[in-house]
Order: sequence, then C-alpha cells, then structure tokens
Amino acid sequence: MAEYLLEMKGIVKQFDGVRALDGIELKIRPGECIGLCGENGAGKSTLMKILSGVYPHGSWDGEILLDGKPLRAQSVRDTEAAGIVIIHQELMLVPQLSVAENIFMGHELTLPGGRMNYPAMFQRAEELLRELQMPDINVALPVMQYGGGHQQLVEIAKALNKQARLLILDEPSSSLTAAEIAILLNIIKGLKARGVACVYISHKLDEVAAVCDTIAVIRDGRHIATTPMQAMSVEQIITQMVGREITTLYPPRNRQLGEVVLEAHNITCHDVDNPSRKRVDDVSFAIRKGEILGIAGLVGAGRTELVSAIFGAYPGLHSGAVLIDGKPADTSSPRKSIAQGLCMVPEDRKQHGIVRDLGVGQNITLTVLDHFSRRGRINAEDELQTITAQIARLQLKTASPFLPITGLSGGNQQKAVLAKMLLATPRILILDEPTRGVDVGAKAEIYKLIAALAEQGVAIIMVSSELAEVLGMSDRVLVIGEGQLRGDFENHDLSQETILAAAIHQPDASHSVTSDHPAAATATSA
Ligand SMILES: Nc1ncnc2c1ncn2[C@@H]1O[C@H](COP(=O)(O)OP(=O)(O)OP(=O)(O)O)[C@@H](O)[C@H]1O
Ligand SMILES: [Mg+2]
Repeated sequence: MAEYLLEMKGIVKQFDGVRALDGIELKIRPGECIGLCGENGAGKSTLMKILSGVYPHGSWDGEILLDGKPLRAQSVRDTEAAGIVIIHQELMLVPQLSVAENIFMGHELTLPGGRMNYPAMFQRAEELLRELQMPDINVALPVMQYGGGHQQLVEIAKALNKQARLLILDEPSSSLTAAEIAILLNIIKGLKARGVACVYISHKLDEVAAVCDTIAVIRDGRHIATTPMQAMSVEQIITQMVGREITTLYPPRNRQLGEVVLEAHNITCHDVDNPSRKRVDDVSFAIRKGEILGIAGLVGAGRTELVSAIFGAYPGLHSGAVLIDGKPADTSSPRKSIAQGLCMVPEDRKQHGIVRDLGVGQNITLTVLDHFSRRGRINAEDELQTITAQIARLQLKTASPFLPITGLSGGNQQKAVLAKMLLATPRILILDEPTRGVDVGAKAEIYKLIAALAEQGVAIIMVSSELAEVLGMSDRVLVIGEGQLRGDFENHDLSQETILAAAIHQPDASHSVTSDHPAAATATSA
C-alpha cells in the first residue's frame, strides 16, 4: 500500500499567462491533517480547486496520485467519487432551497420510482446538524433564512454527508463563533481518528496549530516548506508565510474623541419571513467622531441586522431613528446614507459587496464615478489613477485593474470592497467583519488604515467575531445578544471573558451597561 493517500507533484497553474502556482508539492497520509498556509493570493484555493477537480486535468501541469495511482479528474463529480470532498471558501448554497435540499444537492435520496424521499433526507440532515450541535436549525426552511455562520455550518454538514477519504476545508471557520469553531475542530479530530485526511486552510493560525499535524506554507505560488506542527510556533508560520516578521498587529490607541456624530435610537428589526420574531430588539447607542466602536456578539445575535438597518440595507420590517450631527437623517436606502457620509462595508461580499461582472477597478470606483465625470463623460485616465492609488494603498494583489473581480483571491476581494467605500470619504464607516479571510500581513495594514481614518475623525462601527480584534482596535465595545444590547463597555482592561459573559447571559442586566459614555445616556433617554 502506498504510504501517502495523496501526492501532488510539480503542480503549475497559469491564468492568462500568469503563474498562480509554480511547482507545488503536497503529500498527505491517511488520518493526517495538513494546514495549508499562505498570504492572500498565495495560491491556496487554486491548489485545492485543482485537487478537487474544479480545474479539470489538462488545465494545469503536474501530477496527482491517489493511493499511488494517477488521478485525472475531469470534474468535481470524479473527485467526489474518489473520496475527495471540498468545502469552498465562498458559500456554494442555493439560497432558495431548503437546508436539507442543499445538504443533499446532487446526492438526493429517492424512493423507488425516483421521487424524492424527503422524510429520509430531513431525518439525516437533522442528524448531521445535531452532530454539529446545531439542533435548532429547521431543515425544511430555505437556507437563506439563516445567517452566514449557520450557512457555513450547513455547508460543513453537506460535506460530512459525503463520506470523504480526504476532506478539504478552505476557510471553513471565517464566519463561525469561537464555540462553533471548537465543535468543528473536534469533528475534524474525530475524522482523523477514523483515518480521514484533511487539508485545513485558515488565516486563524491558532486553529491551524490546534488541529493540524503538518504545516505546508506557500508564498506567491511557490512551495516554501512542509514542517511538522510540533516543530513550529505560530510566529514561525507567519514568518514563513510573509517572509518577514510582523511585530505589532494593532496600532496604538491614543485618540481624542470628538462630538457625537451618529445616534441610533430604538432600532428594532423584524425577521424577514417571520415578522413576529424580532432579530434586533430596541437597541440604542451613539458614536463620536474619531471613535472606534466594536460590536461583539455571537453569530446570529443580530449585529449584521442592526448595522444594515442603520445603513438602510435591511430588507425586512424595521423601526427606530438615526440622527447624524444631532439631526434626524434619512437613511432609508444605502444611496441616501452614502450621500450623508454614512458608508458600510458589508459582511457578505459575494452577495452585497462586489459586482461580479465588473473588473477590479470598476468595482472600486463604482460609488464615486461622478468624481471622474467631465461634461457627462468619464475621464478614464483620472479614474485609473485613483484605482491604482487605492490598489497600492491596500496592497491589493491583482495582475491588473482590468481583471474580473472574481479572479481575485478571497482576501483581495475584501480589500477591493474596502477600497470602494474608502473612496466615498465616509464620516461614519460601518465595517461588518472587515478582516474576514484576510491574511495576517494584510490585517495589520487594514488595522493601520482603520486607525488612521479614526485619527482623521471618522467614526467607525466595527462588527467583528474575532474578540482579539475587537479588543485590539475598539475604544468602546457594544455586546449584542439575541438582538438586545447586553453591554456597553469602555475598552480599558476589558477582557474576552467579560464580553463573552455579556453575550451569553440573560438580559435582565440593564445594569450591565457600564459605560459612563455620555452617548449612552443620550441613547437611553430617547
Ligand atoms: N479565475 C482566475 N483568473 C485569474 N486569476 C486568478 C483566478 N483565480 C485565482 N487567480 C489568481 O491566482 C492567485 C492565487 O489565488 P488564490 O485564490 O488561490 O489565493 P489564496 O491563497 O486562496 O488567497 P486567500 O487567502 O485570499 O483566499 C491570485 O493572484 C489570484 O488573483
Ligand atoms: Mg483562498
């Protein structure tokens, strides 16, 4: 029997003459979990798309051996038949179909005669979700009713249903909470014990360190090193990834805060499909010029709904008032909000952030095209100059500004969305999970940029599931739990435990609002 379940040898992949992968080697034993690490655009997803048959044999050079025998897959169907299952970085669910139908997509259970066996599928789907400790998902409901974190868990359930010999997880945890990640890592450990091999990709290196046996690092499409995890520290992984040391992740916080610039009063959002259910329940807060306000809470707590409602992008029934500079503001649509200096970088870039059919540059200048318009015509040279400057400012990795945005790596798409909103010169900027899928080096750059904006007086509302990021960046932290404001803390010696306790605890705690912030008083007296 071959020692390795799988070997990838000398893999080369070109896009329009540009080498995205340049001779990668990867070997995986049964039961081994490999952490595939590298910066945004290093080539991780591309390598996994080759392994999983998304890019068919012949569209790349090199060789893949499975059980020592050549694997020449023409499609994902072929690799799945061989036991290779991938969870993609971007969600692949069909929003209108039910949770169960998504889980069984392409593998539907049928009755004799060919009709769908819904009872059996529902039952098996429920089992899978129980295994993921998500019993309260209704498998008969359309998957779009659930937030990003739950959708990611559905995606994982779908993969677990396929009985993989090799499971590839490309950024599976980017919208999961700490507790959900712990469950996922346990499941991976269980799979390993049963001899299933895994490739785990995550920019959260503590997860990689917790679950991986071996670390393979690639940089700019080249293989840098493969090392047992035991012989590595997280710092060493980072150094291999970026080729230099990163010392400070979070910029210093010593800003002077200005006046209150935005007030949100009694924001309430009703569930889109079940209006009797409140997703956000009477939340009020205020934010000052130059302040970074972190919004923490568990996935599904209502944070995205809250900020979408303030920005005018919440699709369901909602109520409440938004004041800018003390005056009632019309934020009934994103366009109106942007015109008043209130901008938002959404969580779900695939659906709301990018325009898939446009190029990188066109996406960046989308909201400010009138800046380049002279007597009704766009001055393309001006526009290109602005685009190039934004690309440099965010160190956005793209072969050209004219490349379709979908050709960028996940983290670089996120940078493009950020660049677009920065051009709109916001006075108040809402960032929903701003560093999701972004590598450490680029994270440090984005943090620097956020801090610099705050320094210039921009008020920043940052929703984030990474508590370290919330604590590292925020002047103040709001905690949302089950749609309600559970805490409002000044960030002095604030700990992750305090935030988590507030997020989980029952909401009898109007006294958990500990802030002596004047804005908190304005908000509650409204
Ligand atoms: N369809 C495509 N067309 C053109 N270029 C592409 C395409 N897909 C990927 N690339 C390029 O290949 C390189 C590797 O991208 P890939 O998505 O594999 O990176 P990654 O390591 O997964 O990054 P991230 O951490 O941001 O997800 C990037 O420079 C990217 O722009
Ligand atoms: Mg990727």
